[in-house]
Amino acid sequence: MAEKPMVNIQGLNSYYGKGKERKQVLRNVSLTLDPGEVLGIVGESGSGKSTLAKCLLGVVKDTEGTLEVNAFRPQMVFQDPYGSLNPAKSVGWFLEEPLRVLGVKDKKERKAQAIDMLQQVGLGEEHYSRRPSQLSGGQRQRVAIAAALIGGSRLIVLDEPVSALDVTMQAQILQLLVDLKAKFRLSYLFISHDLAVVYQICDRVAVMYQGEIVEQGDVDTIYDNPQHDYTKKLLQASLALEE
Ligand SMILES: Nc1ncnc2c1ncn2[C@@H]1O[C@H](COP(=O)(O)OP(=O)(O)OP(=O)(O)O)[C@@H](O)[C@H]1O
Ligand SMILES: [Mg+2]
Repeated sequence: MAEKPMVNIQGLNSYYGKGKERKQVLRNVSLTLDPGEVLGIVGESGSGKSTLAKCLLGVVKDTEGTLEVNAFRPQMVFQDPYGSLNPAKSVGWFLEEPLRVLGVKDKKERKAQAIDMLQQVGLGEEHYSRRPSQLSGGQRQRVAIAAALIGGSRLIVLDEPVSALDVTMQAQILQLLVDLKAKFRLSYLFISHDLAVVYQICDRVAVMYQGEIVEQGDVDTIYDNPQHDYTKKLLQASLALEE
């Protein structure tokens, strides 16, 4: 029997605001994400990519349709974790917070797990006591990824996780995500406006336009043979950038 999808979204509508201000953002969105799979979400600014992520994580509550998430504590990684990393707290504090929430009471145990996770993301014990301001952008992103994983979450929503990084650092973080995915059998919903990055990491891609998914499928199929005009435009724009 096929495994149950980790995420099953069917006919999802979502809204912001109340009364006369209530505005629909997502329109009839349907997608599934299987265990171990990476689904890319691409589309222009304002098309509803982050809103879709927020629906999945239960942050946006005004929705209609089917929204099933069969995963333990799905987590989100943002473009620049600087905002979400409290500048007054150490990396160790930040990594141990999910463990405190989960009831790991033993201080030594928490620290051991935090240091192990730092190593999993390519950092070391020396980063444990650092503050966010004492890390590079790439290192902060590694900490954010470690914090997303440390509580046992296997579904990670990555919202433009490498967009704030230079090209070399992007490649390193993408490789880390690929390695971690294999090691922990993770599933990713990978939001990006960069089609080249999506091509590197995603199995499938869904193209969003004005709150709708206008097409989705295997990355190779969509990139070789885009059906929708908007997808064609996106691909042309991304090829033009490479030249
Ligand atoms: N909290 C909110 N309240 C009201 N409207 C919102 C809210 N958040 C987003 N929107 C609106 O919903 C639409 C989709 O926004 P969303 O952030 O999902 O787009 P996006 O595809 O992630 O864009 P970007 O690529 O710029 O991050 C936009 O029109 C935006 O203005
Ligand atoms: Mg967004």
